[in-house]
Amino acid sequence: MDIHALQQIVHKTRDARRKQTLQKFSPADRDQLIHKYHPDFRAKAYRPLRFGPNEGEKTVVELATLLEGDSGIQDHADLAPLYTTDVLVVGGGGAGCAAALHAHGSGAKVILATKLRLGDSNSVMAQGGMQISVAPEDSPVTHFIDTLKGGHMHNDHDLLKVMVEEGPSIAKWLIELGVLFDRQADGNLHVKKGGGSSKPRLVTCSDYTGLEIMRVLKDEVINQKIQLLEFAAAIELLSDDEGNCTGAIFKDLDTQRLVVVAAKSVILATGGIGRLHIQGFPTSNHYGATGDGLCLSYRMGAKLAHIDTFQYHPSGAVYPEQLIGALVTEGMRSEGGHLVNAQGERFVNELDTRDVVSSSIIRECEEGRGIRTMSGRVGVWLDTPLLDVEHGSGTVEKHFPAMVLQFERFGIDISKDPVLIYPTLHYQNGGVKIDTNSETNVKNLFVAGEASGGLHGRNRLMGNSLLDLMVFGKRSGLTAAGRAGSMKQGKLTLKHLERFRAEARKHGNVSGVISPMVLPAYTRKVG
Ligand code: FUM
Repeated sequence: MDIHALQQIVHKTRDARRKQTLQKFSPADRDQLIHKYHPDFRAKAYRPLRFGPNEGEKTVVELATLLEGDSGIQDHADLAPLYTTDVLVVGGGGAGCAAALHAHGSGAKVILATKLRLGDSNSVMAQGGMQISVAPEDSPVTHFIDTLKGGHMHNDHDLLKVMVEEGPSIAKWLIELGVLFDRQADGNLHVKKGGGSSKPRLVTCSDYTGLEIMRVLKDEVINQKIQLLEFAAAIELLSDDEGNCTGAIFKDLDTQRLVVVAAKSVILATGGIGRLHIQGFPTSNHYGATGDGLCLSYRMGAKLAHIDTFQYHPSGAVYPEQLIGALVTEGMRSEGGHLVNAQGERFVNELDTRDVVSSSIIRECEEGRGIRTMSGRVGVWLDTPLLDVEHGSGTVEKHFPAMVLQFERFGIDISKDPVLIYPTLHYQNGGVKIDTNSETNVKNLFVAGEASGGLHGRNRLMGNSLLDLMVFGKRSGLTAAGRAGSMKQGKLTLKHLERFRAEARKHGNVSGVISPMVLPAYTRKVG
C-alpha cells in the first residue's frame, strides 16, 4: 500500500483519540517494558572490555572495538610542536565554543581545533530547547529531581547539582551574547514542557534552538579572534612522564600532515557516537559523531562512565528514505502530537521518558502493529496535523518551521499528513567520567559536553544536553585557563601509548582497528 493510503487510519481515528484517556503505566510496567524492548537490554549487542581503565565492563561491540583499537601514530613519531598554547580545545560544537570563549575571556591563550568546520556538530542540530528552571513555579531542585528520575537515579549528584544551579546564569550569558530565545507577550522567556519533566522548563528558539545558539557562539569565537584549526582531526593525545595530558596530535585533513600542538591543558569536546550506528540503528547525529574523544581519553587512562547505555530518540524519520534517522523533535509530542499504531490506536503517554516511549514503539512494531513502508522499513505514526486541530490552523508552520522545511523538501506537508517515525540513535548517556570542573582522572585532560559521562544517568531528559554542554564547557574553560598562569608546559611523550600497546599485546591486540574513526566509512574519503 502506498504511504497516503496507510495514513488514512490516522485521519479517521483522530476524533476518537482526542476523547480517549490514556491509561498510565505503573513503575513496574515501565521497568518491564524497558527490559523487554529497549536496545540497551539486548545482551548479544554487548561485550566486556578486555583491558584499559574499564576492563571487564560491558559496552556495545561497535564501541568496544574502537576503545581497544590502536593509534595511527607510530612509537617514534616526530613530536616537535607546530603550535603551543595554554588551552587546547578539541571540537567546534557548543561545548567547544563555550570552553574556548570562557578560557579566552580569562586571559588564556586558546586554540580551538575541529575536524570539520567551526560549528559542525550535534549542537547545531539541537531542536527542542534547553532545560533551565526560569519559570516562577519551577526551581533548580525540581529540575534536579526530574533529571534524577529520568536517569533512573544513576546520575552523578554533584554534576547534576552544578548543572541545574548554573542554568539561569547560562541563559543570561547567552541572552547577553545575542541569542534570541522565544518570549511571551509580556517579554518573559517562553518555556515548554519536555518528556519526563514535571514543569515547563525548555527555553527555545522555535525548533532550531541549537542553530540559533551556535549562530551566536560561532560569531563570538570569530569576533574574539580565537585561533582556529579547522579540518584538523585529533588522532592522539600527548602525555608527560607522570601521565598528565600535555597536548594532542592532529591530522590535517587537507594535507594529510600530522600537526602537533603542545598545551598546558586539553579540553575534549568531541561529541557523541551516533555515527557508529550501534546495533544497526540509523542516527540523528552529525557526520562527525564517531566517538573520537572516548577513544583518545581511554588510551590516556581516563575512566569512562555508563558506557552501556545509549539514547534512542523515539521519533526518527522513517519516510522518506532520504531522511531516515533524522530527528522529528519531541517538541511536537510536547504540543500534543499522538503516537498512533497501524490500528489507529495510541499506545503510550507521548511525554513519558524517552526510554519508555522508544520501547513502546519497538514493542508495537515487533508485535505487528507497526506500519511498513514499500522499502520494508517499519514505524508508527506521529499525528502532526493534530497540532493544528488542537491549537488552531497554522500552529505546525508557526511553531515548527525547521521541521516543516525538512519534510517540504520532499513534497510532504506535515501539517496535513502524519509523519512515520521509529527510534533513532541520538545520544550516548555515558562518556568520559569527569569531576565538577569537567576534569577527568588524567590531570589536565578535561572533557565537556556529550563526550563526558555521569550526569544523565541511564536516560537523558530532553533539553538537558544543551545545558550540560554550556555549563561544563564553561567550567572546563575557566579551570584550564585558571591553571595556565602557574604552570609550565609539560613534556610531549607517547608513554601512555606505549603502556596501552603493551596491554593490548597481552590480550592479543584484540581489536585490529585504528581508532578514532574520525569519519564514518561511508563518507567521502578524505584520507
Ligand atoms: O527532540 C528534540 O528536540 C531533542 C532534544 C534533545 O535531545 O535534547
